[in-house]
Amino acid sequence: MKLGVCYYPEHWPESWCSRDAARMVELGISCARIGEFAWSRIEPERGKFDFEWLDRAVECLHSAGLRIVMGTPTAAPPKWLVDEYPSVLPHGADGKSRRFGSRRHCRFSSRDWLRESRRIVEIVAHRYGNHPGIVGWQTDNEYGCHGTTLSWGLEDRDAFREWLAKRYATIEALNTAWANVFWSQEVTDFDQVELTNLTVAEANPAARLDFWEFSSSQVASYNRAQCDLIRRHSPGRWITHNFMGFANDFDHWKVADDLDFVAWDSYPIESLSCVPFFTGDEKLRFAETSHPDIASFHHDLYRALGRGRFWIMEQQPGPVNWADWNPVPKPGMVRLWTWEAFAHGADVVSYFRWRQADFAQEQHHTGLNLPHAHELSPGGHEVQQVSRDLQNLDADLETVQAPVTIVHDFASYWALQIQPQGDDYRFEEIMFRWYEAVRRLGIDVDFVRPGADLKGYKLVLAPALVQVDADAIRAFESADGLVLYGPRCGSRCEQFKIPANLPPGPLGDLTGVCVIQVASLRPGLEFAVSGSVNGKAICWREYVETSAETLASFANGGLALTAKHNHHYLACWPDADLLNEVIAMLATKAGLHTTDLPDFIRLRRRGDVVFAFNYGTENWNLPDSAQLLFGERTLRPQDFAAFSYADPATPSLTRQ
Ligand code: GAL
Repeated sequence: MKLGVCYYPEHWPESWCSRDAARMVELGISCARIGEFAWSRIEPERGKFDFEWLDRAVECLHSAGLRIVMGTPTAAPPKWLVDEYPSVLPHGADGKSRRFGSRRHCRFSSRDWLRESRRIVEIVAHRYGNHPGIVGWQTDNEYGCHGTTLSWGLEDRDAFREWLAKRYATIEALNTAWANVFWSQEVTDFDQVELTNLTVAEANPAARLDFWEFSSSQVASYNRAQCDLIRRHSPGRWITHNFMGFANDFDHWKVADDLDFVAWDSYPIESLSCVPFFTGDEKLRFAETSHPDIASFHHDLYRALGRGRFWIMEQQPGPVNWADWNPVPKPGMVRLWTWEAFAHGADVVSYFRWRQADFAQEQHHTGLNLPHAHELSPGGHEVQQVSRDLQNLDADLETVQAPVTIVHDFASYWALQIQPQGDDYRFEEIMFRWYEAVRRLGIDVDFVRPGADLKGYKLVLAPALVQVDADAIRAFESADGLVLYGPRCGSRCEQFKIPANLPPGPLGDLTGVCVIQVASLRPGLEFAVSGSVNGKAICWREYVETSAETLASFANGGLALTAKHNHHYLACWPDADLLNEVIAMLATKAGLHTTDLPDFIRLRRRGDVVFAFNYGTENWNLPDSAQLLFGERTLRPQDFAAFSYADPATPSLTRQ
């Protein structure tokens, strides 16, 4: 458990570096990430390099004892490069080219861009690859940020055509796969394929899904090219990338395959503010703390993506600048978020940024230091406290397999974006709400990719797995715990058609379910559900025939929840009551220990150590049998405690 910080030596007078570095060390920081936006300073003109300032910064940080994470500078190409090759600029869905003047003004299908970014990565990797201060690398910065995974220009179209020719080999195969006979969409050559933006009516969903997959695959191969160069020039160093929260535009599993571990950037308050599905009440109630499952959802997801290892590369240190509203986090939250990340398995929590910039786009973004000063900000003082905490918490924290896992599939997000069928059917929301329901019971959660081994999990949740391939089926068949499939699972086959045996397609045999009709439900149109669980269907319901056991039905007829052996199928989008009852019933059936947590207290177990976090406004008491390792028996608002708890049962907390 270590601390880090994002540092921009190019933003400050060089004479500040050694003082900054010394103060970082004094604060208990051991890692500094640098370099990811510095291209215009490294290479001010084509072929004219100025590395001296960066050499000195690296030396300065290294000699202070800091371990340096070097970012490749490809998230912000310099102006001369864009002028030389305007084709590197991405195109919006309106078909227009984006301009220079911010960042991520580059696209993955521009050959010039691929060549230029490989060139700079190789030069930087070669220069710093063996420096003793460089412990690892970050590729680029937040792939896909600002909606840049998909680009809609001619070069994108040409690259898409090439990809399609490889995928389908013949144009007949493409016509069949996309069912182009519909609306006379047939083409006679790959060169006739158009992008799917700017069409008069809805574009072909199979074409859209292919374009999304193609765009996603470009991110993975772009990242792989960077990794190959770094590995060649920087032996013995690890490589990571800083992913974002609630970002599903590209398949993170495939990018993570090429990394040694993953990192993600945690801005909990802004995520709550900007993600549309949170209710107005949640946005207000948690405005200054964030919702207690936002950060942890991503810790658990990214731990899976990192095959057990992850960092927070950028942790919000106070108010930031980029959401619709940016409140100051309540005192204690920066420390709480840090500890929550450690509790979920983070190796390092690194804050963005060392010092608030009193210039340019992010002036309102706090850092650990006040603007233009050598003086800690309120967030900086909390980090000072974390450093003291770290010296006092002496516990052996194991990461063990959680009892529950959630199958996470990025392509299902694309599928549901392409064909929501109801305005409010959101992949991110169903994934999050199912996670939240498990966490409210005090149970820890893992995530897995489709097809991963499910053995050892007492309960497996597949809230939204639209296409189910042969590997996923095999994994479900050999699951030894209970499995719950959400609505729309298996509802499309590989070519984005309704499966011949009707949804849930390949899950039909396992679940004993056949979906005859589906209905999206406008807000207010709801169907009561009763049986062994009760509540309402909102947003979506299915009309199902089944040979399986019926656990709950719709009041106006039809099956809502079924079970065939250990496989359960939920034929609707459940409201909070129904969801909580379904998850609680299955957790009990699976033999899991549960507790009923208020929505602002969360627990996380690491072996025999339990962490408790209070996002609320009242004091809570730890259980009497808890042997306190850290904190106090009274868990105050915006505080955490860690205690040893050998009992496998989930501890219960009581209100004071
Ligand atoms: C991240 C980004 C950083 C900085 C930060 C501000 O998305 O990686 O460079 O812009 O947001 O919160």
